[in-house]
Parts: sequence; structure tokens; C-alpha cells
Amino acid sequence: MGRSWSLVGRAAMSWYRFLHIDSSVKHLLRADFQGRELWKCWMSNHLPAVTARRWKHGAPDSLNCSWLMHDQHLELKYSDMVMRLNYVWLRDHCRSASCYNPKTNQRSLDTAQVDLAIKPAKIRSDNDTIYITWPDNHMTKYDLSWLAKYSFEGQKQTVQRRILWNASVYKEAQMPYVTYNSVMESDEELKKFLEAFLLYGIAFIDEVPVSVEATEAVALRVGLIRESIFGRMWDFTSDFSRGDTAYTKVALDRHIDTTYFQEPCGVQLFHCLRHDGTGGRTLLLDGFHAAENVRQENPHNFEVLTKVPIKHEYIENVGGCHNHMIGIGPILNVYPWNNELYLMRYNNYDRTVISTVPHDVVHQWYVAHRALTTELRKPENEIWVKLKPGKVLFVDNWRVLHGRDAFTGYRRLCGCYLMRDDVLNTARFLGIKI
Ligand SMILES: [Fe+2]
Repeated sequence: MGRSWSLVGRAAMSWYRFLHIDSSVKHLLRADFQGRELWKCWMSNHLPAVTARRWKHGAPDSLNCSWLMHDQHLELKYSDMVMRLNYVWLRDHCRSASCYNPKTNQRSLDTAQVDLAIKPAKIRSDNDTIYITWPDNHMTKYDLSWLAKYSFEGQKQTVQRRILWNASVYKEAQMPYVTYNSVMESDEELKKFLEAFLLYGIAFIDEVPVSVEATEAVALRVGLIRESIFGRMWDFTSDFSRGDTAYTKVALDRHIDTTYFQEPCGVQLFHCLRHDGTGGRTLLLDGFHAAENVRQENPHNFEVLTKVPIKHEYIENVGGCHNHMIGIGPILNVYPWNNELYLMRYNNYDRTVISTVPHDVVHQWYVAHRALTTELRKPENEIWVKLKPGKVLFVDNWRVLHGRDAFTGYRRLCGCYLMRDDVLNTARFLGIKI
């Protein structure tokens, strides 16, 4: 009990701290955007005269690169791009032999030793490179294209490209038909599968031998298995062997699995090895599509769901299984720099007592949760599939919700969770940009 309360207290504190930080960041961003507007205006009115007087150019006859030095940052114009590069950042990212080890791709420089008031002593450039000499005579050189790629201004705004779907969009999707043999033997086929999986958050591999072993083999082809309190490969029937509704025959409403882990499992596999009976169709729906609809219709509701920390809990005392898991985090998780969704934590079964926020925020949260639930329950957002032996379903458990019909008869399902980082690692190894 003491442990849970201290977790909740800490979550509440960090939420309030976050709100404070968030408003400071917004202020900074606002200032930056205002700065950009002023800059555009200033550029259009004064650029020719000022360029002649103050802008430093690299090669004398080239307009490819020019810069202005400010108190804490360098304003660098390269091709048609303007970058603002903080001096500490420029020193910290130095790729010289003493600052960076290209063999390990690790920083050797001790950032804490960099003077926070550091300023270049000298700057020069040629067409492709900028050379910065620091007050201690250390030289840093950057490829201009590297800066263009990794500067804030040059960063792509979306981390993971996705195609959000409802039933009709998914029906039109060109999902590849890949088989166990093709994926096991060909990197190209695996890549095809992963590209579709990363875009849509679900994908199938067909013609898989009907066994736990083959399911495990195809899982390992995609990523490392994440062991959990449910084991490595789970293989179960509706035998009530665990303290979870999944081990029964009743219908299960849409949900994300393992919201009670601090980091919910990233990817889940399902393989129905046998079903002699009726019902038991699998429900799938794109949680991010629903969340984006909430964002469009009522940004405040969306924001509340990204800010209020919610606790999920799993308590099990069945047979020899004694588990008590707690995960705390908002229902919608977004990257703070671009507000892109990356994780949804939606499970009304496992959501436990809300004790992380005061009563007025609680009410706002219920309103926002209702808006999201309404979206998630729209029939046009649902797809239903009957899992059959040989057909393995992969689900992005941070994005796509699953559920099922009630069923009758004997049903045997196996599967596992995968480590999300390792699935992405496989994708990058195959050349998928993510
Ligand atoms: Fe589930």
C-alpha cells in the first residue's frame, strides 16, 4: 500500500512539474515562432543590405553557406535552409577524434566540461563544410549536409509514418500476402511484412505450421520475445488457469494489453491453433485513428488525455500465481517536441482507482475519456477477423486495440509479446526508415 501511494504521489508531482515545464516550453516555442516571423519580415525588408554588411560567407563567390553569430547561437544559412545552432550544442556534437568514437558511435567528450558561455573564436567554411575554432584552439568541423539533417530545423517532423485506418480504409489497404516459408527464407519478404505492419499496426503471416514451435520461430524472425508474468510463449485454452478474463470464454471489449506494466508490451502475436465451436472472432481497431479524431474535434480533450496520469493494475492470486503489477501513465502518450502519438494506454478492465489528480481535473478527464471511448466504439472503426490455424496475427499493442466475441467450444490460442525495440531494430536493419 505504502509503495503504491508513493508512486501515485510521485506521478502527481511530476505531472504538475510537467505542466510548469510545458508552459515554459510553450513560451519558448512561441518566442521562437515569433522570432521566425520577425526573421521573415526582416529578411524581406533588409536582407540585401545586411547581407552585404554582416553575413559572413564561406567561399567568396558562393552563396551556398553564410552565417551570423549571435550571443548563444549561430544562425547558419545553407542552400534554402536557415538553422539556429546553439554554441554548446555545436561543441557537444563535435565529431573530432578526441570527442567522438566513430567505431562505437559514442561520445568521448565530457559535456560537463564545456563552458556554457562558449563561443567560437573563428569560423570559416567551404562549399560542403563549416570549420569552427574554439577559444582553446580545438577545431570542430561539420559537413553542412549533416547539420541540415540533424539540426532542429532539419529534423523530419514525424518519427514514424503511419496510415491511420477505419474499416473502409483498411479494406482498401494493399496488405501483402506473406507466408511462413517466404518470411523465414527471404529478407525482402520480411521487409514487405514489416513495412505493412509499421504503417497499419497490424499484419498477418499465413501458412504457418500449426504449432507453438513454428509460432515461436516466426516471432523470433521479427524480434526478440518479451517474457512476462504470462511466460515466454503463452499457449492457453479457456481453462480459467490464470486470474485474467482472457482465460475465459466471455466477450472481451477493446483494450490494449499490459497497461499495468510501466512499459506496456510493444507487439503481440496471436495464433489460433484450434477452435471447435462458434464465435470468438477477433476485434481490431486503430486507436491512433480514434485519438486523432478526438484531437481534431476537441484539442482540450486530447490534451487532458495526454497529461493526466492514470494507474493500471494487475492483481492475481490464482493457483501458484501471485502477481501485483502497476503501471502509471497518461492514456495518450505523445512526443513532447511534435505531439506525435506513440503509445496508447487504454484498458477499462485494468484501469484502477484514479487518485493522481484532484476532483475538477478528474471530471475533465472523464469527459475526455468519454470522447475517446465514443470514437473507439464507432462500428465504422472496427474490423473483425476470424483467426484460423496457420494465420498469425501481429498487433502493435501501443496503437491497435483488440477484443473478441464470446465463443463456444474448445479454443486453443498461442502467442507471445515481442520487444518493440527489437522489432524496430529488425526493420532498420532491413533498410526501413524509422
Ligand atoms: Fe488482450
